[in-house]
Amino acid sequence: MSQDDLKLSVARAAIQYIPEGKIIGVGTGSTANFFIDELARIKNRIVGAVASSRATADRLASHGIKVFDLNDITEPLPVYIDGADEITAKGAMIKGGGGALTREKIIASASEKFICIADESKLVDILGKFPLPVEVIPMASQLIARKLAVFGGKPVLRMKEGKPFVTDNGNVILDVSGLQIKDPANLEEKINNIVGVVTVGLFARTGANLCLMGCSDGVKTLA
Ligand code: A5P
Repeated sequence: MSQDDLKLSVARAAIQYIPEGKIIGVGTGSTANFFIDELARIKNRIVGAVASSRATADRLASHGIKVFDLNDITEPLPVYIDGADEITAKGAMIKGGGGALTREKIIASASEKFICIADESKLVDILGKFPLPVEVIPMASQLIARKLAVFGGKPVLRMKEGKPFVTDNGNVILDVSGLQIKDPANLEEKINNIVGVVTVGLFARTGANLCLMGCSDGVKTLA
């Protein structure tokens, strides 16, 4: 089974968790894209979706799924479905490989349940092999890089086509490699407290309530 087959299997498995007649939260990335394509098959069962990135909004709209602005929603979303770059058995994650971490964390915090959909390559005992994305205010990026280095990793400004990568929110991202994150909630809080940090891609406080893990012998549920 290819990695894409595993992503498709969890995207399909997630459909059973979509409540009827509601607006749901939808994440960003290749696994989320498989989910959006599956969601399109049952689009008449939902009212619409809130998107965690422009790319996701475009893909939802291309399927005729109504995209809502979070500012127009007054009640918690029943469910948020998204992938992860790394996840532990306890549901703590590194996210933001696609650069959408801030809107992902906002929609996760606006949702009653975070269901992570991931292939088995994402499951780890200790977070940190995948460089930790931190979205920051551009004028503070080097100041924040020096502060992040204190935690033992190496922060590098994310680049795209020779220029700093710019997020949907107009900020830049520092990717911190070489970390071994033994206490994700504690590090999340410490990085959140650095002035100029917009969002850290550690999702421990807003971790997954359920993970559908695509394995070669089937989809496993980690709660
Ligand atoms: C996007 O910013 C990320 O948080 C994604 O959810 C994460 O990178 C997983 O992406 P893939 O499904 O493409 O691996």
